[in-house]
Amino acid sequence: METVNVLTRPRYVRAVRQLHWWMALLIVAAYVFVEFHGSFPKGSAPRNAMMQGHYWSGIAIFLLVWWRLSSRVRGGTPPIQPPLGRFTATFSRLMHLALYAFFIVMPILGCLTAAYEGKQVLIPFTGIALPVPVAVDKDFGHQLEEIHETIGTIFYWVIGLHVLAALWHHLIKRDNVLERML
Ligand code: HEM
Ligand code: HEM
Repeated sequence: METVNVLTRPRYVRAVRQLHWWMALLIVAAYVFVEFHGSFPKGSAPRNAMMQGHYWSGIAIFLLVWWRLSSRVRGGTPPIQPPLGRFTATFSRLMHLALYAFFIVMPILGCLTAAYEGKQVLIPFTGIALPVPVAVDKDFGHQLEEIHETIGTIFYWVIGLHVLAALWHHLIKRDNVLERML
């Protein structure tokens, strides 16, 4: 089992590092697909494809997060040099916890939204829809969509802050926070 190596360059284990960047890409894809699907006319092929892209980026995030969490728990956290102050350490832990919760809650809410609104999630290249265990209820679906959308908006800021924090550590504080994830 690979563990954090504190003797050479301290880094997260390989699975955590790779999953961090793949999942960051998937998050960006999920946002881009849903934000730009409205540029195409309702019912058009590109618009539908973009929504399917949104669904599957989100589902992929939901599937990968469990692998990432188990690698993270087994691999541990590499030390930060020089160490963070108590406030910064607690704040960053809370931010990371929020991001992990986001990876789990958003896809579930998204799937429920699609199911209650009667939107089909198609298995790629097959045209076969995933089975839906609930009856369509558009009003409830719209309420779920509002919550899904609001969390999505809040996390624009959380993710933005996360990226700025990483850059601040690297460029201004000049500690090894970012290098641990590369
Ligand atoms: C982490 C993953 C996800 C993120 C970050 C995310 C984010 C968002 C955001 C920001 C919106 C609102 C877009 C707008 O302003 O119109 C949205 C809408 C929506 N999302 Fe997601 N989503 C995720 C996963 C999913 C999944 C897995 C599904 C379903 C399988 C889904 C289904 C939907 C649906 C049906 C809408 C409403 C779209 C519309 O009709 O305008 N989402 N999502
Ligand atoms: C350019 C974009 C990004 C940069 C430079 C970046 C950088 C970093 C760095 C340096 C860490 C390690 C922080 C530490 O251990 O104290 C980290 C952790 C993390 N990042 Fe990012 N990140 C980026 C994008 C994202 C995105 C888009 C997400 C998801 C929405 C994300 C989610 C996370 C999570 C959940 C952790 C916690 C890792 C753990 O301790 O298990 N990151 N990121």
